[in-house]
Amino acid sequence: MDDHQFARLLDVINGSWKGYRKVRKGVKKRVARHMQEIGCRRMEDYLEKISVNKATRAECERRMTVAISRFFRDRQMWAVLETRVLPEILASGCGAVRVWFAGCAGGEEVYSFRMLWEMFSAGRNAMPALGITATDLNPENLTRAQAGIYLRGAMREVDDKLRNAWFDPLKGGRFAVAPVLKDGIDWRLGDLRRDDPPGNGFDLVFLRNNLLTYYTEPEMRAGFNRIVDTLAPGGFLVIGAKEDMPGFGLMRLARFDRCVYRNPSKTHDMRAT
Ligand SMILES: C[S@@+](CC[C@H](N)C(=O)[O-])C[C@H]1O[C@@H](n2cnc3c(N)ncnc32)[C@H](O)[C@@H]1O
Repeated sequence: MDDHQFARLLDVINGSWKGYRKVRKGVKKRVARHMQEIGCRRMEDYLEKISVNKATRAECERRMTVAISRFFRDRQMWAVLETRVLPEILASGCGAVRVWFAGCAGGEEVYSFRMLWEMFSAGRNAMPALGITATDLNPENLTRAQAGIYLRGAMREVDDKLRNAWFDPLKGGRFAVAPVLKDGIDWRLGDLRRDDPPGNGFDLVFLRNNLLTYYTEPEMRAGFNRIVDTLAPGGFLVIGAKEDMPGFGLMRLARFDRCVYRNPSKTHDMRAT
């Protein structure tokens, strides 16, 4: 598949060339395999099939997902979470902290947060309950996330101390996250563009390196607005370090830090607990 054909596919599924540019090689391979499996030799036939058949389109979109992630990706953002965001959320005195990982890939981001939460809790007497929901479009990612087994590459920002505390080494240079980190996580399938969010009143939503990267603005807009609607008053939305907040997002959210935005409608301390 050449770039011209890939660009035509992106047009049909409202994918962003800029978002896929660096990862297109692997994605093209997966799409080419799908074409082969359903007997499409020419791109025109494939485009026709995904235009008329919902299930084929869904399978195409699943194969186009990119699951690149790693623990504590964007260290600076994690430092902001630790030093500014979590203290603000806890200062509100709420009884339970609700977090949604939207497009969670293999769970690297989710377990990074769980580690941070455990370390944060260690120095404090009382912590609110933590409720985590993690969603993804691709069921294979959720299966991997629940298994919690990772290659060294996903852990390049995990120092020895963290690795010794939270991972068990396995054969073949792999690592398993400590079982305690898996407690209480609600993993769910969901399409950020089309499906109802998995709840509302979230204190913190991670929306990193998916909706704002891989889709065109018209395609992402409704889903993005639904995600913002799920934020609690004063709730935080985190985006990827290389992502830009679109104009329609800036109209609804206040910038808190480089990748962190906040629902300005009311602040946490005005919220009933
Ligand atoms: C590049 S990974 C990012 C993972 C993690 N958020 C991070 O930043 O490290 C993108 C993830 O978003 C998921 N994704 C892409 N489009 C999605 C959609 N429309 N709805 C839900 N998840 C989606 C992919 O399946 C993939 O797991």
